[in-house]
Amino acid sequence: MGTGCHFGCNTGCNSDCNYSFNPDGNEGFNPDINVKANTLNSVKIGICGLGTVGSGAVNVLSRNADEINARAGCQILISQVGARRDNPACDLGDISVTRDIFEVADNPDIDILVELIGGTTVAKDLVFRAIKNGKHVVTANKALIAEFGNEIFDAAKEKGVTVAFEAAVAGGIPIIKAIREGLSANRIEWLAGIINGTGNFILTEMRDKGRDFSDVLKEAQELGYAEADPTFDVEGIDAAHKLVILASLAFGIPLQFDKVFTEGISKIEPQDVTYAEQLGYRIKHLGVASRNNGSIELRVHPTLIPEKCLIANVDGVMNAVLVNGDAVGPTLYYGPGAGAEPTASSVIADIVDLARTLTADPEHRVPHLGFQPDQLNDINVLPISEVETAYYLRITALDAPGVLAKITQVLSDANISVEAVIQKEPGAGKDHVQLILVTNRTVEKYLDEAVEKIQALDSTAGDVVRIRVESLG
Ligand code: HSE
Repeated sequence: MGTGCHFGCNTGCNSDCNYSFNPDGNEGFNPDINVKANTLNSVKIGICGLGTVGSGAVNVLSRNADEINARAGCQILISQVGARRDNPACDLGDISVTRDIFEVADNPDIDILVELIGGTTVAKDLVFRAIKNGKHVVTANKALIAEFGNEIFDAAKEKGVTVAFEAAVAGGIPIIKAIREGLSANRIEWLAGIINGTGNFILTEMRDKGRDFSDVLKEAQELGYAEADPTFDVEGIDAAHKLVILASLAFGIPLQFDKVFTEGISKIEPQDVTYAEQLGYRIKHLGVASRNNGSIELRVHPTLIPEKCLIANVDGVMNAVLVNGDAVGPTLYYGPGAGAEPTASSVIADIVDLARTLTADPEHRVPHLGFQPDQLNDINVLPISEVETAYYLRITALDAPGVLAKITQVLSDANISVEAVIQKEPGAGKDHVQLILVTNRTVEKYLDEAVEKIQALDSTAGDVVRIRVESLG
């Protein structure tokens, strides 16, 4: 608590606090004084990290200060910035800057620490230090929340502070708030999302312009979309971090990053993008969290989606999350999933939310994962071998009579039926053709066995390419 605060409980508000201490000992929750009591003059924030998002946050806070303050009901002041960068993409004016980010976590003047440095090492120490010092935290760090969120929320609960993380998932889309608060009446059955802007940008450019994978990735890095380590984007780790967070909010389960099945987009070939289109599908890198007979599926992988689905038409760096609740039915949330100001938009929304509730009794704030911490469920997460989907298969096969029949026989023996087939002409001088099949839904382990048998046939060559198919119906 800052010096001079009149508030008698553990809010962490600073010296400008107007909150009236109720002499009855009810710590300000006397309804007679609450109109005045709920107003703080100012909330002081410390921003750690001045990269793409940090600079974006400073710029938006300064440009829209009047509107933001009018919404928050108090002045949001940047008291201090902790950053190593000498030339940030924002004007810091006379804001105090330190190269030691822990100075910000220890600064008694600061109510809210905004962690925008990323990663799970220094950022983790910083967040725990801020919590220990009774500060609320706003973070855009999906890896930190997905991997250490359970411990972080426990520590925050103990200190009566809040850790807000809207910017951690889907950049500028307020999807955390939508699931945690807007859909709180629903039993959520499943959700599916395009939750990595870089990956979606790459797949879109490959499809629309026939561009090369690595060339598009380079552009995504220059535009500030990609993670510091871009394999996080293309191998699905970033999407898995985000999916874990969404699943916990949707199903009331602890964060379990180690249980997500993750497959990247780096092996998607241009010919699969083309064949998918010929079959009426688009390939998207999808995160899926779904209930399945008392268990839960958590998976990130390239997915064929019927082109008539709205989510199949989400292109470029845009993200979208489709959430199916039993009361509301399907709802779709769409917007920019990365970039300086879209992500800053979510960071600042969290700051405003915190400024509004800084004086609320910690027990009556919105719980971190939407469910009360003692109400989280221990639901089994299924291994991918038990998951049921349809499949796109591309098989390199000898161009000879009876080959297609042999392949479909293997599938039929595994009780897998074929929905669609394309056979391409062999190239000049080639004796092998590409056979493309779309199967009905089956449990993955049965498809694994069938694929092994197809690969063992004398009339096929190389590995079968397989991509999961979801109708999202
Ligand atoms: N690298 C991430 C993306 C940034 O491309 O979506 C936002 O989390």
